[in-house]
Amino acid sequence: MDFKLSKADPLEVKCDVLVFGKFENERIGGLIKGADKALENVLERTFEQEKFKGEMGKSVMINTLGKIQADRILIVGLGKRSKFSLDVLRKVGIHTAKMTCSLSQKTAFALEVAEKRGNFAALSEGMMLGLYNFNKYKTNEKGSEGDRIVEFVTDKLREKMFSGEVEYAKTIAEATNFARDLVNEPPLALTPGRLAEIAAEIAKDGKLGCKILDTKEIEKRGMGGLMAVSKGSDEPPRFIHLTFDPTRAPRKTVAIVGKGITFDSGGLCIKPSDSMRTMKMDMSGAACVLGVMKALPKLNPHVRVHGLISATENMPGGKAYKPDDIIRALDGKTIEVVNTDAEGRIVLADALCYAVQLGIKEIVDLATLTGACMVGLGNYTAGLMGNDQSLINRILAAADLAGEKVWQLPLDEELRKEIDSDVADVKNVGSRWGGAITAAMFLEKFVGDTAWAHIDIAGPAYVEKGGDWYPKGGTGFGVRTVIRYLLGR
Ligand code: BES
Ligand code: ZN
Ligand code: ZN
Repeated sequence: MDFKLSKADPLEVKCDVLVFGKFENERIGGLIKGADKALENVLERTFEQEKFKGEMGKSVMINTLGKIQADRILIVGLGKRSKFSLDVLRKVGIHTAKMTCSLSQKTAFALEVAEKRGNFAALSEGMMLGLYNFNKYKTNEKGSEGDRIVEFVTDKLREKMFSGEVEYAKTIAEATNFARDLVNEPPLALTPGRLAEIAAEIAKDGKLGCKILDTKEIEKRGMGGLMAVSKGSDEPPRFIHLTFDPTRAPRKTVAIVGKGITFDSGGLCIKPSDSMRTMKMDMSGAACVLGVMKALPKLNPHVRVHGLISATENMPGGKAYKPDDIIRALDGKTIEVVNTDAEGRIVLADALCYAVQLGIKEIVDLATLTGACMVGLGNYTAGLMGNDQSLINRILAAADLAGEKVWQLPLDEELRKEIDSDVADVKNVGSRWGGAITAAMFLEKFVGDTAWAHIDIAGPAYVEKGGDWYPKGGTGFGVRTVIRYLLGR
């Protein structure tokens, strides 16, 4: 996608679709009024007929019949003026991409909104996110992108700010779309081994440090959790460790940890078939980590970042780990297995211990960890928990900037006894109630005093039906939040 800036009169811009924005319940004025005049009031009349007031997520498209240079006009709802934010612009970009994907090679935006930093970035990011689709396995459908041009028509030409913002947006959207691709890959193609190969390619391209541990090494180091979960599968596990070193002196070192279950059948506590569908998405945390690691060399934050992934399938083969098993994590703590379907926390335990052993002072993990989190927060919001409120606040602020919905859940002292075990140091499942919280409190046992936050992305990582702002399938959730958290903006 090619982004351009122009100072032309919008009515003189030759394009397939010219986009205006309209605030909810406001009378039309300014640029739209001008266009309406040129089109003999067809806009105002269409708004009335279609009862379009300017609500978010709604729009009206009309053909200009050659009365102006643009072929069509799309008026996108901006919602209430009082609620305007950069996220509104990102959503305008997503909506426009969806509305124009099949009919526009050149789209021009003529939006009269408060000109401020980030406008171009938000719109460009939205356009690139909104055009995403996953059709590589459809024999007769080619990628529809082609050489798309997006032109921003504005009366203030700020070339330097513009190119910086567009680059930033491109990096973030590409990383998100990359994570979406990984999640959408079928599990037969995206095995733990393949995930590790992809990680190695990212490392090579971005000059990152790269260490991949195979079965032998995982066992030798004592990563008993990852070992145990992998036993029921014929696909060997991998532990992935990528390192980004900034060119400037790092202000701090953090670890981003991802759950990389490339398929979760539930293991011997096998899932019913309906719940097993979509479980290729159980590596969405890992996909997020790889998306972020891919973007970092271009963004170059003042932070050293370790990307850590425990990758395996969870299968019920003849050697599978079993309920009643007791396994030993990397730090020596023992885990009683109550349910083999609560495998994510077990493989993450080793990854968290690994991060602690590296001496890292701040850890953020992302995992499609619990159905309970989806029950509590729904399909579009991630749960956030942790042992350090200042870290949590920074993640909440980053999510807000990114336009990703994240909601803090409490850790609860009274719930902690749920995961006490009679025979081991901890057991991997509590009761039904508070399942997202007890899962987090299980993880907490493996981080010691290190500042740590856990993002349960079970809901928003994968949206089966799609949504207004999400494509069907993998969403790449978390990439945008984590990048902003690392950049501190
Ligand atoms: N991968 C699942 C969690 C999940 C469920 C993610 C639905 C996305 C959509 C996880 O490994 C799991 O199976 N968790 C169990 C835990 C239970 C056995 C305590 C769950 O949530 O049902
Ligand atoms: Zn599971
Ligand atoms: Zn799982």
